[in-house]
Parts: sequence; C-alpha cells; structure tokens
Amino acid sequence: MADYHLQAATAEQETAVKSLIRAVHINPLGVDWRRFVVAVDAHGAVIGCGQVKPHGDGSRELASIAVVPEWRRQGVARAIIQRLQSEHAPPLWLTCVSTLTPFYAPFGFVEVRETAVMPPYFRRVHRLFGLFARFSSQTGTLAVMVWPGDTKNC
Ligand SMILES: CC(C)(COP(=O)(O)OP(=O)(O)OC[C@H]1O[C@@H](n2cnc3c(N)ncnc32)[C@H](O)[C@@H]1OP(=O)(O)O)[C@@H](O)C(=O)NCCC(=O)NCCS
Repeated sequence: MADYHLQAATAEQETAVKSLIRAVHINPLGVDWRRFVVAVDAHGAVIGCGQVKPHGDGSRELASIAVVPEWRRQGVARAIIQRLQSEHAPPLWLTCVSTLTPFYAPFGFVEVRETAVMPPYFRRVHRLFGLFARFSSQTGTLAVMVWPGDTKNC
C-alpha cells in the first residue's frame, strides 16, 4: 500500500502546488490553494494535487490534476479525483488533451462535442483552442468533458 494521504491544501503548500503545476505544464491560471486537495507523502512532500474551479457562468471545472512522475500509475490521481467528486456535486466539466479522455472516462466523464450544450466558459476555451490549433503547428486537439452525475462512478 502506497504511503501517502489526501488533505485539503494549506497556505504553506501553495508554493509546492504551483511548482507542480508549472512542472507538468498545465494551466497555471486560477490556482487558489484554498480550493485544492493535495496528496502528501510520508515526508510531508506534495506529490499530487487537484481542484474544482468555479467560473463566472456558474459552471465548475475539475482542474489542475497533477501527480509527480515518480508517483504515477499508483492510483494517486484516482484518489484525488474521487475525493473531489465526493465533495462537489455534478455536473463537473473539464478540458484535456484528447489523448486523456480514456483516463477520465472511468470516473463518469463523457466527451461533449456539441458546443451549443457547453457552458459559455468552455465554449470560449474550445473555440480559442480550435483557432490556435489552426494557426500553429501543434496537432493535438482539446476535449471538453462533463461528469453529468447520472452515470455510475468507478
Ligand atoms: C494524468 C496523471 C494526472 C495521472 O496520474 P496517476 O496518478 O498516474 O493516475 P492513476 O495512477 O490514478 O491512474 C488511474 C487510472 O488511469 C490510468 N491512467 C493513468 N495515466 C493515464 C494516461 N495518461 N492515459 C490513460 N490512462 C491513464 C491508470 O492506468 C489507472 O487505470 P487502472 O485503474 O486501470 O489502473 C499524471 O500522469 C500527470 O500528472 N500527468 C501530467 C499532468 C496532466 O496531464 N494532467 C491532466 C490535465 S487534464
């Protein structure tokens, strides 16, 4: 059994959370430590994090899911996501690179392709990413997913 625990983040862990998010190259905006759940190892080091971020349109986003490389594939992200799902009622939205949709599917997240049903924030992100992808050499696509809450959680 891996030796770590989950907890609500503290102010002292803010720097570690921000460093982890920078290190794994995910969205560094809207990183308020008060919303975070962190995974902490036996030495007190932050080894994973995640949050639910509220948006101005009333939607909420499962975001900032990250685990340090040496702790990956040991269920740390799963534990963080399930904890956040237990604390926040559906629907929860997220964006991810399309290669990660199989990672989120077992938690009940389904991909949404129809922009008309997306909350305005996610519609904007989807549109901006599409424009960016058209005018840059990057080939990956952005997926928008929702946990509607009426599917079985894993
Ligand atoms: C994606 C990430 C958070 C996964 O963390 P993790 O702690 O290794 O994930 P877990 O061990 O909890 O994996 C849970 C399940 O997802 C699977 N999984 C893990 N990474 C996966 C990936 N990249 N693609 C598909 N499935 C994956 C695991 O095999 C496991 O499945 P199982 O239950 O059948 O064994 C981690 O690789 C990471 O921090 N990546 C960089 C940051 C990032 O991309 N974050 C997501 C932003 S949208």
